[in-house]
Amino acid sequence: MDTKQLIKVAKEVSIHSYSPYSKYKVGAALLTKNGKIYTGTNVENASFPAGMCAERVALFDAVKDGEKEFEAMAIYAEGNNFPFPCGICRQVISEFTRDIKVIIAKSEDEYVVKNISELLPDIFEFTA
Ligand code: THU
Repeated sequence: MDTKQLIKVAKEVSIHSYSPYSKYKVGAALLTKNGKIYTGTNVENASFPAGMCAERVALFDAVKDGEKEFEAMAIYAEGNNFPFPCGICRQVISEFTRDIKVIIAKSEDEYVVKNISELLPDIFEFTA
């Protein structure tokens, strides 16, 4: 599974985004270290804070199957800007794998690749 293929999967799932308020269709494709792919879209709600980002939908789906080691995540949304993950999603991504490759695509040919440690340096860690 290469970068372009993962972007394509994220694009395909973005069609199912439930985003009647923002009209911003986000798709995420998460590749586990053992080669499985989990996907997510943003799911909005009339009560705005109840909605969820595509990245966390994909991550939570994977974690509920016992997956915690991730190779890469592609995030796809068409628009003027690259769909960089929000701060909360950066924190949730870095909970699991500190060196995950994050592919940020606004079309199949226009993308940037960053490591999560570049997107969120000096991550918050909880120690009791
Ligand atoms: N959104 C995501 O799905 N991921 C992000 O990292 C940032 C924002 C969604 C949430 C909302 O449905 C829409 O994009 C506009 O903020």
